[in-house]
Amino acid sequence: MPSNSIQLDDNGKLRHFLSIEGLNPTILNEILDTADSFTSVTDRTIKKVPILRGKTVANLFFEASTRTRSTFELAEQRLSADILSLNVTTSATVKGESLLDTLQNLEAMQIDMFVIRHQDSGSAHFFAQHVRPGVSVLNAGDGQHEHPTQAMLDMYTIRHHKQDFSSLRVAIVGDILHSRVARSQIHALNLLNTAEIRVIAPRTLLPMGTESLGVSVYEDLEQGLEGVDVIIMLRLQKERMRGALLPSEKEYYRKFGLSQERLQLAKPDAIVMHPGPANRGVEIESSVMDGNQSVILQQVGFGISVRMAVMSMIVGQSGLQSGGDA
Ligand code: NCD
Repeated sequence: MPSNSIQLDDNGKLRHFLSIEGLNPTILNEILDTADSFTSVTDRTIKKVPILRGKTVANLFFEASTRTRSTFELAEQRLSADILSLNVTTSATVKGESLLDTLQNLEAMQIDMFVIRHQDSGSAHFFAQHVRPGVSVLNAGDGQHEHPTQAMLDMYTIRHHKQDFSSLRVAIVGDILHSRVARSQIHALNLLNTAEIRVIAPRTLLPMGTESLGVSVYEDLEQGLEGVDVIIMLRLQKERMRGALLPSEKEYYRKFGLSQERLQLAKPDAIVMHPGPANRGVEIESSVMDGNQSVILQQVGFGISVRMAVMSMIVGQSGLQSGGDA
């Protein structure tokens, strides 16, 4: 059994949600289908269902977050959970022991589910290995490793617009090296049987052995965009860069910025995505971000349904059928 089987119980049901790697297409499709039933909840005037009633969820954000944190909180509220949100600031050297201490103190408060974002890769797995039986952990981004709920909301957005992954060409453009989002997306796109995954970046922003992830690598944006159905733009994660990996932002935009002109190289009905935060004029032209092919704000909204889906599957309920209305 792979070590990632920590995520599934003996019946193959979701117990923790730590990484896309180690999951299977059945779970991924179940998340997407379950999210569909919650999209209708978020469109209602009364937006609550009682699936997490009586459960307490702790949101532990050791790193800054806008979209992820607020959509997790809204998802928890819409599932009727009790919520504890902590903004934990730590120095980079504080690891291991102190994380365990935090966990044990919170466990004493009878928390049922932890949502954790932390600067260290592997921190969510570490938490999951140490929680009591019956307590679940969801990864809201661990270092440069994975960001699985982001990848699933991206898959949901793609499926919403394009239906069948097996005929799609998807391009992921930008700072792949530092991106936990890209890593999770690549695993998810592969599991969902995507026809072609292209990764477009300067060599200095590509991890070693990118090709072995089942993607084709392009160092030329214009070649890479030719005929794609989906374009996913990524931010330059300067806070994670050590040393000079780029000449300048201006030069980066000149070579890798998504302009209106370059967008024409993709299929005419291609969608433009970005996990945020986006930097206008650095990786994407402002008018492309606001243009009619952009689905960037829709991604944010879908984040609520997808996070509701994952949490409800963890407590053993797939959507509204068993949860009922409140
Ligand atoms: C990303 C993250 O934090 O990994 N953003 C997000 O969660 N929506 C990407 C980033 O910070 O660039």
